[in-house]
Amino acid sequence: MRGERTLGSREELTRRFGPGEEPRVTRAPGRVNLIGEHTDYNGGYVLPFAIDRWTEVALWPRRDLLVKAYAQAFEEEFGFSLPLRDPTPSGGWADYLLGILLELAGRGELPHGFEVVIVGNVPLGAGLSSSASLEVALALGLSRLYGIELGDLDLVQLCQRAENTFVGTSCGIMDQYVSYFAREGTALLLDTRALRHRYVPLDLPGVAFLVIDSSVRRALSQSGYNDRRRECEEALHWLQRAFPDRGIATLSDVTEEDLEPLAREMPAHLWRRALHVVQENTRVLSTVAALERGDAEEVGRLVSASHASLRDLYEVSTPELDFLVEWGLAHGALGARLVGGGFGGVTLHLVPEGEADAYVAALRQAYRRKFGREARALEVRPGPGAKELNP
Ligand code: GLA
Repeated sequence: MRGERTLGSREELTRRFGPGEEPRVTRAPGRVNLIGEHTDYNGGYVLPFAIDRWTEVALWPRRDLLVKAYAQAFEEEFGFSLPLRDPTPSGGWADYLLGILLELAGRGELPHGFEVVIVGNVPLGAGLSSSASLEVALALGLSRLYGIELGDLDLVQLCQRAENTFVGTSCGIMDQYVSYFAREGTALLLDTRALRHRYVPLDLPGVAFLVIDSSVRRALSQSGYNDRRRECEEALHWLQRAFPDRGIATLSDVTEEDLEPLAREMPAHLWRRALHVVQENTRVLSTVAALERGDAEEVGRLVSASHASLRDLYEVSTPELDFLVEWGLAHGALGARLVGGGFGGVTLHLVPEGEADAYVAALRQAYRRKFGREARALEVRPGPGAKELNP
């Protein structure tokens, strides 16, 4: 997986950038979503955790108005001068920097330029929220650099807005939220309507969390993600017309009982999207209960049920993702599913710890034989949220 460096320690910084002024370094993690997929823009529940992989941003203020940026993963530089004059997105990593700066410029003064170096070890474009980790690390570092006061939730929403408006992906709030608020050793149960969360210890003794990458890449902004969002809006309008007195504001306001009698009336694909959202919300809460009882088998069963629903009702899976999941369930996984938006990217497998190495080796071989592609694997642990490393 690409992008394998971090620069947290003082020694590392001095070695790479010389003994001059020490930069301000912020770090924000990527995430895996245990369960609760495509619910975050439908007012539903999600249960992600931050992984022990992150993006780091080192910032030095400049005396002039120039901004010079370097992204190690792409070995690319990008420069411009402040103030920003209607920049247009180019589809590359610099869009995240421009998007965050545009949002910050709406909140305060950007009276000088800066230098920024971006490094990290979150696999890029795999569905592990490398983008959200970059946004959060930038927003945290730049708001502090400029002394722009942002509340915690403000900062998270600013990142989401940068992605929605400038980068051009209508993502929900899950990725940025967990990248900022995560706590080590826990998953975060987020109610995306109330924007309130609580921490759920992610402690299943003897279970390893493996991320297996299909190596199929599809940028979210170009994929069917935006189509699914549109379909959910259509489904919502349909349901609002069907139940005019109920004050339905999101798909999470309807129940399975509401949906059942509409199976023949509603356009079939809209009905399937709505049913997925409603059932996935229930699965999230059941997963929390199972985690609290330490019932790993039930967690696994729910995780696999989420995949089946994403495949059959939400229709965001691919033959590669289905293969990885089905192979896993036939070879000892407690549960497995695609993670993130879908249409490529990674799968999550809950596997008995002692079997993880053999499992990965055999799965990679089977995948290579079937698709002629490499399926890289990564064991992840629930890590902490964003922080400034040298405040
Ligand atoms: C992407 C988006 C999230 C969420 C997931 C699907 O990761 O960024 O907001 O919608 O897809 O659950």
